[in-house]
Amino acid sequence: MKVGIVGGTGDIGEGIAMRLSQHHEVIIGSREAEKAVTSSEECYRTLTDMGLSCTISGVSNQEAVDRGEVIILALPFKHVESTLSSLHGLEHKIVVSPVNPMEKRDYFVYTPPPEGSAALYIKKKLPAGTRLCTAFNTVAANKWKALTEDLEFAIPVCGDNPAAKETVMTLVNCIPHIRAYDAGPLAASCMVECLTPLLLNIARFNRLRDVGIQFR
Ligand SMILES: NC(=O)c1ccc[n+]([C@@H]2O[C@H](COP(=O)([O-])OP(=O)(O)OC[C@H]3O[C@@H](n4cnc5c(N)ncnc54)[C@H](OP(=O)(O)O)[C@@H]3O)[C@@H](O)[C@H]2O)c1
Repeated sequence: MKVGIVGGTGDIGEGIAMRLSQHHEVIIGSREAEKAVTSSEECYRTLTDMGLSCTISGVSNQEAVDRGEVIILALPFKHVESTLSSLHGLEHKIVVSPVNPMEKRDYFVYTPPPEGSAALYIKKKLPAGTRLCTAFNTVAANKWKALTEDLEFAIPVCGDNPAAKETVMTLVNCIPHIRAYDAGPLAASCMVECLTPLLLNIARFNRLRDVGIQFR
């Protein structure tokens, strides 16, 4: 599978890229192609230094969309609208949102837009017919990047198109120990997005590291 990551130079983008590129072709996107090239070269070097093979390259966000079959929107919520309005061709793709709108006050607070979740907002901004799913919302970037550690976490996946959801769950499940769970339609995505501020609050108030979710 070819996976394009819009905003792939960021924390979660690079982390996911390093895991997925061992199993699929990953195309890191950026507003600046050169920045994406540097990011992809760093990921490549990190992986190959560990004896791990990978397929990874860096390009502009638009080229990542053009070349990818599945497109991950690895962007802060506040930059989603401007980025989506600068891109074309997403209607032919499966688009994945890991986006969690939240704010750090005295504690972490889920701050969804009036649509009810970032995913429902993104759906409105995408061309009609785009197959949108949520995934990768609940595992922190530092965990994706800790390549010697097994990721024993659950990843809930929401979406309205069964075939697209199946594709995204298969993609998630290529990462050893991670398990994707069908978390229902896109309308249920608020319940997934708000897990991250909950996990951050639990980590903070209980002085824990590596807080994540599993379903048993
Ligand atoms: N970090 C985590 O642990 C984590 C975990 C789960 C989910 N998430 C979600 O994943 C998303 C990305 O998080 P992140 O921590 O990876 O974010 P980030 O590192 O702050 O930013 C990601 C990328 O966004 C691009 N960007 C920055 N400003 C922009 C602008 N004005 N316009 C367009 N693009 C801009 C940058 O790429 P270029 O400069 O290369 O264009 C940047 O590398 C968020 O919605 C977050 O809620 C994060």
